[in-house]
Amino acid sequence: MAEKKAKEQWWKNSVAYQIYPRSFCDSNGDGIGDINGIRAKLWYLAKLGVDVIWLSPVYRSPNADNGYDISDYYGIAPEYGTMEDMKALIQECENCGIKIIMDLVVNHTSDEHPWFVEAKKSKDSPYRDYYIFREGKAGGPPNGLKSCFGGSAWEYSEETGEYYLHLFHKKQPDLNWENEAMRKEIWRMMNCWIDMGIGGFRMDVIDKIGKVPDQEIVENGPKLHAYLQEMHRETFGGKNLMTVGECWGADTENGILYSDPERKELDMIFQFEHIELDQAPGKQKWDLQPLNLKCLKQSFAKWQEALGEKGWNSLFWDNHDLPRIVSRWGNDKEYRVESAKMLATLLHGMRGTPYIYQGEEIGMTNYPFTGVGDLMDVESINMYWERKRMGYPEGDILKSLRTKARDNARTPMQWDGGHEAGFTEGTPWYTVNPNYTEINAKQSLEDPDSIFYYYQRLISLRKEQPILVYGDFELLCPEDGKVFAYTREWEGEKWLVVCNFYKEPAGFSYPGEGRPILSNYGQDSLVQLGKMELRPYEAVIFEIR
Ligand code: GLC
Ligand code: CA
Repeated sequence: MAEKKAKEQWWKNSVAYQIYPRSFCDSNGDGIGDINGIRAKLWYLAKLGVDVIWLSPVYRSPNADNGYDISDYYGIAPEYGTMEDMKALIQECENCGIKIIMDLVVNHTSDEHPWFVEAKKSKDSPYRDYYIFREGKAGGPPNGLKSCFGGSAWEYSEETGEYYLHLFHKKQPDLNWENEAMRKEIWRMMNCWIDMGIGGFRMDVIDKIGKVPDQEIVENGPKLHAYLQEMHRETFGGKNLMTVGECWGADTENGILYSDPERKELDMIFQFEHIELDQAPGKQKWDLQPLNLKCLKQSFAKWQEALGEKGWNSLFWDNHDLPRIVSRWGNDKEYRVESAKMLATLLHGMRGTPYIYQGEEIGMTNYPFTGVGDLMDVESINMYWERKRMGYPEGDILKSLRTKARDNARTPMQWDGGHEAGFTEGTPWYTVNPNYTEINAKQSLEDPDSIFYYYQRLISLRKEQPILVYGDFELLCPEDGKVFAYTREWEGEKWLVVCNFYKEPAGFSYPGEGRPILSNYGQDSLVQLGKMELRPYEAVIFEIR
């Protein structure tokens, strides 16, 4: 029975790796990463030891939002390759024991999707109700809903004189989930991908599909969970796949609703509470405030407890929408290696499924942007001009962008110290971070003390040690503003994870002695835990004796 459960819940001891295909590896010199580029690097992922690839969108798209605006769910974007390449990738991954989870972007389509092209032509189109069209009010949009990328969420549509809803770019019209025919189309599409042998789905902004635009309800709408249960029933239910929903609006209460297996919705969600701790309360991500470590500890501990018995957590620092963690909360200068390993220890030591974003495993950093001309992302560019108009000083805007822009994560993967970091033989679609001569995968693979090998060890520990996967979590010293420490307990065993979050040395004490399992300073002899002095960014996992 226990074995059956473990097999069904393979995603619990798995580690996922996110690929942003445009920036991962270019196989044909056009400067754009592609599917064959991913195939050429599977050995690298196998060496790292990951079990799952979360593949950001490779579907046909006009790329208003780099593939998160899909014009054909059944077709591969020509710049990424062909359906044959995709099938080969799935097969080759399977040969390496890696499953692919596809990005499922069904809150919206591209405005170039045939449904929308038809829908906007006439009020009588059978596709009209697949989207959300409304009459304007007093010569303006129907209401005050705002787009996540700035400005109104309503766009006037000439053809019929009505407005349509787009919670993101105006080229990303929102789908109307109230429409049953539309939902059926989505189930059909998902089943088609499942039949092709994929391992599951990462669901883009899925907490918005239950929106009630007329009441200005966007996230966590009244029918959200009913839609997810229907999706489960109609598509992946009983098929032993992995599902993770992106839920910016989640709290621990609805976190359980999504991921309690008995409710038959999703396996886990991405929640962003920790990610929002360095933004001024009630403001935007661009309004910076320093991270308070005590709040970070509280937040993680709350989720660890809430999704302990029922439900499941996903663990992540980075993705294609977030700045690089080593620059954000580590130290991307003299302690880059130590702090990157510390952050990895802290995260991978907790209960949940860890996700690594491409380049994180070699400690890639933010990009030193010097002006708006360096940016490519719609969100960043819109914000720049919006804040310019509002009179913000140029220096402040650039500081926010350097700290938070999504562009930071989207520069090409740094493979080696050669031409364009080994990403392409041509000219990359986006500039390579100038630090590629020092920070690259080749260098990491040659150095036994590299961040890469540290991640490799963390990943294999999760395979060898059920305590890391299932053990109970307990936060220690919540009031300590420098050290993040917790224990894990499982079948009479107890592990202690201690991380000095900062550059200054810090003290910590715990009764008894500990045998180091893994440490970023190479500590390997038995340690008296009574009075420890932690070095800058020191992190150790101990087995308590
Ligand atoms: C998600 C994606 C992001 C995209 C947005 C709209 O947040 O991760 O990249 O811009 O949804 O699809
Ligand atoms: Ca290419």
